[in-house]
Amino acid sequence: MDRMGQMEEMLKTYNQEHILKLFQILTEEEKMKLIEQINNIDLHQIMELYDTTKKEIEIKENKIEEISYEDKAKMTNGRKEKLDELGEKIVKEGKYAVVTMAGGQGTRLEHPGPKGTFKLDIYGKGKYLFEILAENLKEANKKYGISIPWYIMTSNQNNKDTVEFLEKNNYFGYKREDVIIFTQGELPLIDMDGKILIGKDKMVRMGSDGNGGTFSSLRKSGALANMKERGVKWVFIGGVDNVLLKMVDTTLLGLAIEKNVQIASKSIVKANPHEKVGVFCKTNGHPKVIEYSELPEKMAEEVDDNGELKYGESHVMCNLFTIEAIEKVSKEPLIYHSAIKKNSYIDEQGKEVIPQEKNSYKFEAFIFDAFELFDDIAILRGKREEDFAPVKNKEGVDSPKTAKELYEKFWNR
Ligand code: UD1
Repeated sequence: MDRMGQMEEMLKTYNQEHILKLFQILTEEEKMKLIEQINNIDLHQIMELYDTTKKEIEIKENKIEEISYEDKAKMTNGRKEKLDELGEKIVKEGKYAVVTMAGGQGTRLEHPGPKGTFKLDIYGKGKYLFEILAENLKEANKKYGISIPWYIMTSNQNNKDTVEFLEKNNYFGYKREDVIIFTQGELPLIDMDGKILIGKDKMVRMGSDGNGGTFSSLRKSGALANMKERGVKWVFIGGVDNVLLKMVDTTLLGLAIEKNVQIASKSIVKANPHEKVGVFCKTNGHPKVIEYSELPEKMAEEVDDNGELKYGESHVMCNLFTIEAIEKVSKEPLIYHSAIKKNSYIDEQGKEVIPQEKNSYKFEAFIFDAFELFDDIAILRGKREEDFAPVKNKEGVDSPKTAKELYEKFWNR
């Protein structure tokens, strides 16, 4: 069978006949480009993912327990000093690296560009989210007399804009050779019947594969190898949108070293049962985060004997991994979660359709699903006013307004 014949067979097998119809109106060049793209897509995986959207998320409550943590605010000075010393040693020896996940679109913020290029109106002049992160790292570099390698993950959608922006701003004074930019993976978008969406450029519409793609992208891009060459032992992985994120917390690092675990995370107390944050728990003895979109109402509201939320330790995207842990996770398939979104596409006549309602599935792996691959985790409870001021929504909670207030309050102290 020739190449075209094989493609036809395959598209039929996976219920993608709409693409065959589209072929008829494409130019030869457009058709060849599309075929080449489809050849690099694992259609079998896409159909498996589509099947999972038909299944209910199952959370067996009887296997779920609360997570244990240590509260930074309740530590004695002696204990904190001891942990800091353990963490500082690693940082000073140049064995610490930082990853910023900046592949997300920031749709909720309605900012037309990579989220890190959003300027927060603080102290008159304002500061970009990338600038705030760079300042946090530069401060640590000064304190410990080193230069921490900073790995920034972009997506195909925002890589070009991100690189241009950082270049234009001279990497906010960060040493150029210590900024390593890599791009995350992507998966096709499919409609509610499992049909792959084709965009108006006559190519398959792709979406980034979620922040859980960080591990495999670190490996595939060579960033992991680069870390190893530099002698990195511990890697911080954080988001781009929390203006109080402490990327070099030696107490957290010290706690992980003392507990002899491979992963660690900062938590804060959930503001209310329905705050849009993931929460920590243990499932079958393994650490886990249940995302807000998947947390059953009953669990969200459950309180313990002290009247505190039983699952109230929130995941604030402030995570640490040993280099071995990253290597391990980078080779394991994480599960994909589906989200229903609004996405335009072209129909079989090549006419663009801009839907009014949500019409398609996007598949994303979540970074914290990696936690379940480990026996234990070190959790340090921090404080909202010191550790968490995210810029997520245009208005209301977790908006530029709330982030500005928290940021200025913290730095005015
Ligand atoms: C995320 C967490 C949630 C946590 C909250 C705290 C996930 C799935 N959820 O929710 O548990 O309580 O932050 O603020 O992690 N990103 C990429 N590539 C992608 C998708 C996201 O780099 O494909 C990055 C974003 O740029 C951002 C971070 O991951 O830095 C958070 O992603 P987002 O999808 O906005 O998650 P939240 O809903 O905010």
